[in-house]
Amino acid sequence: MPVGPSLRQRHAHQAIHAGGLAGALSKTEEVEGLFASGDLEMADQATEELLEYWESRILSHADAEEDGFYQEVVEKYSALQETVLQLKRDHELMRIVVKNIRHLRETSGFSKVILHKLYALLEINEIHSQEEERLLF
Ligand SMILES: [Fe+2]
Ligand SMILES: [Fe+2]
Repeated sequence: MPVGPSLRQRHAHQAIHAGGLAGALSKTEEVEGLFASGDLEMADQATEELLEYWESRILSHADAEEDGFYQEVVEKYSALQETVLQLKRDHELMRIVVKNIRHLRETSGFSKVILHKLYALLEINEIHSQEEERLLF
């Protein structure tokens, strides 16, 4: 798949990361606020919206990278093969956490455990983006 210029350009790529993270953070804080006010049903609904955001904004960015950008990097700099594998593992961890949160919601409903996992997801994403920006550009 041809890679759009935005993934190859450091500043544009950084902007995608920053925008995705800021949106996920504010939506996570919204979930936390609803949970703190005791409205579990609304917290659960906001979590569903947040998971859709993770899938459409952040995991789809990861898919796009794996579909083209990472391959281009490895073709150009073969020494980065191991780095790319590690970055792919970060993506996989985020996919797994999203899947686990979905499963928890469906089986046990909303709980504090979900909130903790949502914050863990933000942390993984932030570290991943920093590493990607540092190592691939
Ligand atoms: Fe990535
Ligand atoms: Fe990225």
